[in-house]
Amino acid sequence: MAQEDVFKKIVSHCKEYGFVFPSSDIYDGLGAVYDYGQNGVELKNNIKRYWWESMVLLHDNIVGIDSAIFMHPTIWKASGHVDAFNDPLIDNRDSKKRYRADVLIEEQLAKMDDKIEKEVAKAAKRFGESFDEAQFRSTNERVLEHSNKREALHQRFAKALNDSNLEELRQIIIDEEIVCPISGTKNWTEVRQFNLMFNTDMGSTSDGAMKVYLRPETAQGIFVNYLNVQKTGRMKIPFGIAQIGKAFRNEIVARQFIFRMREFEQMEMQFFVRPGEELEWFKQWKETRLKWHKALGFGDKSYRYHDHDKLAHYANAATDIEFLMPFGYKEVEGIHSRTNFDLSQHEKYSGKSIKYFDPELNESYTPYVIETSIGVDRMFLSVMCASYCEEQLENGESRVVLKLPAPLAPIKLAVMPLIKKDGLPEKAREIIDTLKFEFTCQYDEKDSIGKRYRRQDAIGTPYCVTVDHQTLEDDCVTIRFRDTMEQERVPVKELSNIISEKVCMKSLLKKI
Ligand code: GAP
Repeated sequence: MAQEDVFKKIVSHCKEYGFVFPSSDIYDGLGAVYDYGQNGVELKNNIKRYWWESMVLLHDNIVGIDSAIFMHPTIWKASGHVDAFNDPLIDNRDSKKRYRADVLIEEQLAKMDDKIEKEVAKAAKRFGESFDEAQFRSTNERVLEHSNKREALHQRFAKALNDSNLEELRQIIIDEEIVCPISGTKNWTEVRQFNLMFNTDMGSTSDGAMKVYLRPETAQGIFVNYLNVQKTGRMKIPFGIAQIGKAFRNEIVARQFIFRMREFEQMEMQFFVRPGEELEWFKQWKETRLKWHKALGFGDKSYRYHDHDKLAHYANAATDIEFLMPFGYKEVEGIHSRTNFDLSQHEKYSGKSIKYFDPELNESYTPYVIETSIGVDRMFLSVMCASYCEEQLENGESRVVLKLPAPLAPIKLAVMPLIKKDGLPEKAREIIDTLKFEFTCQYDEKDSIGKRYRRQDAIGTPYCVTVDHQTLEDDCVTIRFRDTMEQERVPVKELSNIISEKVCMKSLLKKI
């Protein structure tokens, strides 16, 4: 099945099974804004818990905060977002559609990568086991031709971005003969900068009102609280502050479902270090964060690093962790060495000293910062894409199953009476009443057992338990495992042990 079709199926699965709904659905939705349903919110909360505990529980030098979305507007001037938080946009005059100029060029680079990979795959098939991929890549004429073209375009693109050269970005689009996917024409406007921050008025009268911004990142809430936390928590450098919260960006190109949203959630951690030690910590956090992703068991090939060509105005090193979505490798998390830019700016604009006195060095300095920043929604999407699975069964039927890591599953256990009478529902409810304190359980008595299993497979429930007449006599139930579909007869009193071993967050955290 084409990857595009797989992605469409995942999007409709999310809606059909209560994971993600378009916002304001009955009013035909609102562009790039989404709501999480009854199963979505559980999965999302579990992802957030996995992140939070990996930061705050596992590190005694990382603490959390929850800062307000509205902040003093000068913060965004100091941070550089008022002047520099822009995307280069370009319009197609025929379709009247607006695009990000950098994204158009990145898509062109991805097409070139595809051509190279196709050549390699064709050759691998032709030569079979004797195929030497490295040699082929370095000697095959067609591959070399594509690679050289790609490299030249990449260099030109990186330079244009670094120089903020909008004319050059447009020229690349013209030279590469990039066409609008809607009109198919090359009738492009100039490239312009577009600020991504939303703003609103705070205050009751229009003349007295103050223009405030909806935060485009949660990080600034951490920077401006850095000294409060350091002092009240008696934190010693190196230490980190973690936060999970909403962020807002007026994205020009809002596509690909919850990948690029206008209202989304971030999980950010700022790690404060001594000046000069930042690149060592950057390397360490890069590795730690990749381990966090890999512990989910989706396979090492699903991830890659992407080092930035264009560094943000605050960074001296930056990399993305990309995940292989059905539409290619895409950024899920950014790890940035933000220097002391933000703290120094806040010192300058607020006029308050926020220096740290280092007792070991006996000197004061403005700490340097390593940031790890991951989008909850993008993480959610990557988990959905990696878990969605259509299986052909031996009996000729098929099933859709979400092979979610058990600690992230919205429902851990479904309890089902075989029939709706003879005391079986009461026994099923009794089991739930004992286990509901440990994990999310769901009672289901409607339809055949087979249909009930399918429903639970579709939302990723790792365990189903069936209560039958025998249960009333021997206090044993049939437990069914989602991935293997195997069934086993087990005593009710052992359910807690069997299930909690696999579904508890500890099992995941220990793999990091
Ligand atoms: N504080 C640094 C920062 O915000 P970023 O690379 O702009 O860095 C970090 O964003 C993460 O936030 C991204 O890796 C992505 O997962 C998520 N993110 C950014 N913009 C997003 C959007 N429009 N929709 C969903 N997630 C987004």
